[in-house]
Amino acid sequence: MPAAKKPATLHPDLAEVLLTEAQIRRRVKSIAREIKKVYDDREFTMISLINGAVMFTADLMREIDNPVRLDCIRVSSYGAKTKSIGTPQVIYNLTLDIARRDVLVIDDILDTGKTLKLVRDLVLELKPASVRTCVLLDKKARREVALEADFVGFEIPDKFVVGYGLDFAERYRNLPGIGVLRPDKQTAGAWATG
Ligand code: IMP
Ligand code: MG
Repeated sequence: MPAAKKPATLHPDLAEVLLTEAQIRRRVKSIAREIKKVYDDREFTMISLINGAVMFTADLMREIDNPVRLDCIRVSSYGAKTKSIGTPQVIYNLTLDIARRDVLVIDDILDTGKTLKLVRDLVLELKPASVRTCVLLDKKARREVALEADFVGFEIPDKFVVGYGLDFAERYRNLPGIGVLRPDKQTAGAWATG
């Protein structure tokens, strides 16, 4: 069978491709090296903000050879729209004991900062030895709370992006790269969570 021609774009609903699969892969490897420098060979606990950080977490943890534990937390943030809907709520909570543990919170994107702040504060209440944060994307222009991540993959402009775990109304998470969703596609659909 002849080799299928590679599509020039990730998906027809995208206005532009921001990050290709290869660019993400390279950066994930280098973030893993940055993380390794901080933790050395010590064990730490990764807390992944599902669903958005699923792909990033899965790829990142495979680049790290430390002993790691994994827990997940789910926080509601977006409906079928592209702006945050106020105060995020925990809808699936942690299950591991993280007292006296070194914790690394992982999210797909740092936007207003409300989600990561909520999770960071919640983790701090559980008396870990340390808490650090890691995000693949940072939309600095939209920050509403004073919070910077310890590890950042890419700074991106203030545009609504999808792919590599990021969704709009639960769609596009499976795209291997990241792109800007066309404005005419940023409407309707069912309610969703980040
Ligand atoms: P924040 O609380 O405003 O920082 O929002 C963070 C959450 O909103 C992330 O965990 C994402 O799930 C979601 N989010 C923010 N910006 C985007 C985007 O451009 N595309 C898809 N999801 C986004
Ligand atoms: Mg999210």
